[in-house]
Amino acid sequence: MSKYLVTGGAGFIGRHLVAALARDGKEVIAADSLSNAKLPDSAALPEGVSFVQADLADFAMAQRLVRETEGCFHLAACASVVRSEGAGWREAHSDTLVSGLALMRAAAERQEETGEAYPLVYASSAATYGASHESAPLAEDAPQKPVGAYGADKLALELHARSLGATRDASTAGLRLFNAYGTGQDPYSPYSGVITLFRQTLADNLPLTIFGDGEQARDFVHVADVVRAFCLALSAASPAAPVWNLCTGRATTINHLAEQMMEICGSETTISHAPPRIGDARYAVGDPAAAARALGFTAEVSLKQGLTEFLKN
Ligand code: UD1
Repeated sequence: MSKYLVTGGAGFIGRHLVAALARDGKEVIAADSLSNAKLPDSAALPEGVSFVQADLADFAMAQRLVRETEGCFHLAACASVVRSEGAGWREAHSDTLVSGLALMRAAAERQEETGEAYPLVYASSAATYGASHESAPLAEDAPQKPVGAYGADKLALELHARSLGATRDASTAGLRLFNAYGTGQDPYSPYSGVITLFRQTLADNLPLTIFGDGEQARDFVHVADVVRAFCLALSAASPAAPVWNLCTGRATTINHLAEQMMEICGSETTISHAPPRIGDARYAVGDPAAAARALGFTAEVSLKQGLTEFLKN
């Protein structure tokens, strides 16, 4: 039976991926430092899944976990802007970049020892493009100009994947995630996405706050599609270290999002506008064509469908 490592396995996307792999009959080691996620209830873990609390930047730990598995989905990262830009920058850098590097090096080493490819699919981010103000979908060859430490670390991960592919045949694939949503984000965390925050606000029957004029657009991709893309990318991992957008290609303004969510909930709450967030991208929408060609991946969950399901759960 195939056994895979999922890092960030206690996080929002990680939990969905672990559950999907288990449903597919795979064995899974879900590893997480728990620095930004809660300990999963061991009694509720699907059959074939074990959980390990681990600092993945610890190379010996990365080596151990990689040796026990046949492939890795690397989702662990520090998504907190406050931590990665503030006093916790060193730990955040370790969680986002060093952990990925440790796993990539462990994967290359395992490959050299066994002579078999060890595929590693890692989460990169639309943050690597920076706060583009162009209103055209971003293709993979668009300039990458990250504005924060998180985006810079994700870009560095892409560069290291390429470098380790060239020097040691490390077999990787990167997916640049746009705005993922779905059940399982903490509604009280300021690092949760706008959809999760709006849902909680609507449930509390409070006014929605839109930063800026609300005409900024995002590419919202449902977590079920995210999971599918990760699974498809596993067999596309190679020393060429390919990277694809993980997106829908559809632009949704925050005004439209708020309207849709209010309509689905039958809410008549008010909307208040606050000053725009500093550095907020005006238009962050991906071009999905390359992933469609290479992986056969097209996002299937429409925003209406995804929101309806999300607001019911
Ligand atoms: C997302 C990521 C971030 C990443 C960035 C670039 C999340 C939570 N954040 O940020 O880590 O660096 O993409 O790829 O996924 N908004 C409101 N009202 C609210 C909350 C948000 O108007 O109550 C607006 C924001 O100003 C923004 C949009 O909604 O314009 C989306 O916000 P958010 O979900 O935080 O994601 P990004 O800013 O795109």
